[in-house]
Amino acid sequence: MRQKLVAGNWKMNASRELLERLLDPVAQEKGLACRLLVCPPHPYLPLAAEKLKSTDVALGAQDCAATPEGAYTGEVAASMLADLGVEYVLLGHSERRQYQKETDALVVEKAGQALAQGLKPVVCVGETLGEREAGKTRDVVLEQVKAILTAFSSEELVKVVFAYEPVWAIGTGLSASPEEAQEVHALIRKAIAEQDGQLAEQALLLYGGSVKAENAASLFSMPDIDGGLIGGASLDAGQFLAIAHAAG
Ligand code: PGA
Repeated sequence: MRQKLVAGNWKMNASRELLERLLDPVAQEKGLACRLLVCPPHPYLPLAAEKLKSTDVALGAQDCAATPEGAYTGEVAASMLADLGVEYVLLGHSERRQYQKETDALVVEKAGQALAQGLKPVVCVGETLGEREAGKTRDVVLEQVKAILTAFSSEELVKVVFAYEPVWAIGTGLSASPEEAQEVHALIRKAIAEQDGQLAEQALLLYGGSVKAENAASLFSMPDIDGGLIGGASLDAGQFLAIAHAAG
């Protein structure tokens, strides 16, 4: 049995006040069957680490550099994240693919840096509305997933989490149906199985895109959906925890 993971992607939203409002209830929550992960913006990681230090809630960053530390103004190296007690790092989120023009090749380099520092990459994949309408969902998702699968060994890939986030579902209120999401998750697991059957059994595949307390249970009941990557709803502690409870 894979333990479910429910992750909050705060995106570029944070303040000291928000951190307290969100993390105090999360840190105090008891008796969840799933593991929680929160991903605040970089400057808030040390404060979040402090708040979460005696809990089992994992801390994640939203990105890391594709190179080790050095002369790269404005970048944040994976080694710095590891130094701060960060466990996971989101990579290749569709907003970064869209606004920062991140390619699969860059995401692979970033994942390499993260893995070398003992971080667990959460690699985001997913098709746009146009790609879905053109019947290209399968090809687009498999290309993004295979870029990672072919770049790393099974020993490295055990640490990788994939998050299927259809771009048309992110922040739109329009989630994929449980069946639509399951179909893509099954496809991803099959691609992993073609490389390593045991790895495919262990791999955590999260769904993201307009997950709310109301639709979480039906999504998480699907056999290949191992939790969620939650954007908007993770900025409300009550909603986020309700989603976590829906993970069983
Ligand atoms: P959303 O975002 O839950 O607001 O749709 C998900 C994400 O971008 O990770």
